[in-house]
Amino acid sequence: MDKLLIEGGARLTGETAISGAKNAALPILCAALLTREPVTFTNVPQLNDIGTLLRLLAQMGVKVSRGSGDDAGTVTLDASELDNPVATYEMVKTMRASILVLGPLVARCGEAKVSLPGGCAIGARPVDQHIKGLQAMGAQVAVEHGYVHAQVPRLKGARLFTDMVTVTGTENLMMAACLADGETVIENAAREPEVVDLANCLVAMGARISGAGTDVIRIRGVERLSGTTHRIMPDRIETGTYLCAAAATGGEIRLTRTSSAYLDAVIDKLMDAGCDVVSERDAIRLKAPQRLTSVSIRTSPYPAFPTDMQAQFMAINAVANGAAVIRETIFENRFMHAVELQRLGADIRIDGNTAMVQGVERLQGATVMATDLRASASLVIAGLVAEGETVIERIYHLDRGYERLEQKLADLGARVRRLA
Ligand code: EPZ
Repeated sequence: MDKLLIEGGARLTGETAISGAKNAALPILCAALLTREPVTFTNVPQLNDIGTLLRLLAQMGVKVSRGSGDDAGTVTLDASELDNPVATYEMVKTMRASILVLGPLVARCGEAKVSLPGGCAIGARPVDQHIKGLQAMGAQVAVEHGYVHAQVPRLKGARLFTDMVTVTGTENLMMAACLADGETVIENAAREPEVVDLANCLVAMGARISGAGTDVIRIRGVERLSGTTHRIMPDRIETGTYLCAAAATGGEIRLTRTSSAYLDAVIDKLMDAGCDVVSERDAIRLKAPQRLTSVSIRTSPYPAFPTDMQAQFMAINAVANGAAVIRETIFENRFMHAVELQRLGADIRIDGNTAMVQGVERLQGATVMATDLRASASLVIAGLVAEGETVIERIYHLDRGYERLEQKLADLGARVRRLA
């Protein structure tokens, strides 16, 4: 099982490029199920989660072709021979976002058998809203033996209201509604930029969608969709993660192939912590102070502070000057990185969904264990500033969401290497 060895103390400086967004690519690749024509995607990040989804789609009968070399970020999917609308537990348990095939399969095939994703380290992660929405659109849905069985000759447009803001719930229902008979309105919709990127791809395929990016999305169903070529948007969470790594090390970096467009809440907090942040057309620069000032955060749906950046901010607050309060309002168990940060010497007290972080002068390197994707990123940031060596175990979590992590960190001057 791979480990990452980090020698702390290096200021991050220089430049590296940001990859396509994992959380845009996952739903957008599933959109190819909605048409018989080939769909080409560019700037697709090469991540384990993407590989898992492509294997799942291939199992369903989708023809998958991928570029190589400089063209490795190009993927073409041809679902003309889609003949097996099933996502097995073996596939779904390794990547819960596989639930995103449910809506497209019901819309395209009139049926789907998709394993319940089950929980993960950060929470129970139910999919009741996905199911409720499909039922409101006329699908017969039974949940038995750990699978969601959905059937309907053709979905009917409906007015849907999700009980809470759900990103993949909004995405699943938006994709399903594209081929429904009549208009669907999704109220309380997620406003994340990845939802907008998906909507842009669907519209390019011939879907009729308005309101993406707001909390009311209207979709007028059409008979069929066509192929297109779509470029995946930059990964705003990867961008924020490297900005935090530079901030924690008192560094000065430039990130290319990305933008500050969808990171206002994160950039505001980095500036409050004492960083200078400059936006360019498709790049972003950060210059950090010698030592950061503590910043409190409260996670909420977009455009507020993203839960996927919470762990990274716990790491930077661990070495900042002052005390910070971190409130996690989206997931019920997203503080697993706290106990690992404490092994590095961080002063953190947890009380329910609130963490109190008292900044310390120095962290000490130690062996720690990654528990989930963003928790792993926070351990990397802490390892970069800790005295001595930090070894992070179970870094398969990192490989799910950060493309060429150690190469990009090395681009920025970090002393890091992977141990087999
Ligand atoms: C997406 O997960 C992201 N994943 C997550 O990123 C991200 O943390 C999350 O949105 C919140 O922004 C992808 O896009 C692939 P939700 P998702 O449905 O859609 C509850 C990462 O690190 N809920 O918006 O699964 C749920 O339990 C990952 O890249 C229900 O109760 O999250 C949670 O408390 C982690 N019933 C809240 O809503 C439902 O049917 C928000 O979850 C659906 C959700």
